[in-house]
Amino acid sequence: MKKWVYIKDVSKFIGEEVLIKGWVYNKRDVGRIKFILVRDGTGIIQSTIWSKDPDCPIFEKFDKLTQESSIKVSGKVKKDERAPGGYELEITDFEIIQIAEEYPISKKNHGTAFLMENRHLWLRSIRQTAILKIRASIIKSIRDFMDKEGFILTDSPILTANAVEGTTTLFETSYFDEKAYLSQSGQLYAEASALALAKTYTFGPTFRAEKSKTRRHLIEFWMMEPEWAYAELDDVFILAQNLLVYIVERVLEERSEELKILERDTKPLEQIKAPFPKIKYDEAFEILKKSGKSQTSYGSDFGGTDETIISEKFNKPLAITHYPSNIKAFYMQPDQDNPDKILCMDILAPEGYGEIIGGSQRIHDLDLLLKKINEHKLSKEVFKWYIDLRKYGSVPHSGFGLGVERTVAWICHLPHIRETIPFPRMLYNLYP
Ligand code: 4AD
Ligand code: MG
Repeated sequence: MKKWVYIKDVSKFIGEEVLIKGWVYNKRDVGRIKFILVRDGTGIIQSTIWSKDPDCPIFEKFDKLTQESSIKVSGKVKKDERAPGGYELEITDFEIIQIAEEYPISKKNHGTAFLMENRHLWLRSIRQTAILKIRASIIKSIRDFMDKEGFILTDSPILTANAVEGTTTLFETSYFDEKAYLSQSGQLYAEASALALAKTYTFGPTFRAEKSKTRRHLIEFWMMEPEWAYAELDDVFILAQNLLVYIVERVLEERSEELKILERDTKPLEQIKAPFPKIKYDEAFEILKKSGKSQTSYGSDFGGTDETIISEKFNKPLAITHYPSNIKAFYMQPDQDNPDKILCMDILAPEGYGEIIGGSQRIHDLDLLLKKINEHKLSKEVFKWYIDLRKYGSVPHSGFGLGVERTVAWICHLPHIRETIPFPRMLYNLYP
């Protein structure tokens, strides 16, 4: 039995005969020598079949192969500078597992709508697998960083009885005889966990029934949310900064091959070092006004284009703090010196990618929270447990949410968020 190896490891088997289990990425016939580009999920290797006899049985088998047919290939690993990847497989024999039907995705340029319809197959392309590998590294680096910093993974429920980020973007479902909602954010439950464990984080899918059709919005996206008891806004700003620096470092280290496949210019990523700039809403508004490119009025939230204009002034992630209180969530702590402004931060990625992190210090005073719940016309019954947290050993605490897909889009420099997750959920787009 030959040893089953993965293409990413072939460099350790030069001169040896190995077995690769994969699929036909492409094939080429130049007479007595035939080429199969074999992919196995970990990489692609050029494999050759050579024979003096044009009627040899292995050539007949070769003729049957179609794009994406599944095959097990035995062959000898050779170092070859000219081959893509630097190694080649001299095929001794191969076994056909299945001959694929005519594959719908070919080399020609397909439109995005067609590719999205065939997302389940599109995932097999070199570009999509590179993005998915970078996504996996980003998620792993987030977890490693939070664990290293002493945060305990708690995870919040997905089926909930309450809204977090406003009632207009809630997905409603039935929960036996009650109404339930898909979580927009794990934050409120993370606050309860933080009062138990001091430093916690929740990491999971979150949902927004938002009728936004932009390159930055998904209906279902993954969010990592730290929550930290006794921490103030500045503490979580530093945490967020160090987290982003760590993620970028790890991706540059582990995924240089994949960044190359995406033709990602890594220079802007190499500049992502602490300290990050931090400005207040008022200063950000001045930048916008001076640009002459925005209609946004003072006191309104910034739109995607506004964020791009503001962040273009900086080559690192930029924190904007102290937004007006009326445009932010009910749970955010007002600034003591200027209660119309909130102790919150949005961190905008450079290169025009907009907000990737939203966070704040939370209201810890019982009466103030009750007042805000009233003002936002939220139910005191549904939020009873959340209000309780302000009755039993309440302390200042802070946290944020990092959107995984927006981070992937930025680090990979993708034009649209749809390629950052295997099966994106977008407006009116539930298939496949
Ligand atoms: O700013 P958001 O709405 O903040 C919260 O949900 C807080 N409860 C987080 C917290 O403090 N624990 O969302 C946080 C991040 C955004 O900065 C963005 O990266 C991402 O989540 N995000 C989205 N990503 C993709 N599609 C959407 N529709 C998103 N909405 C938010
Ligand atoms: Mg936000």
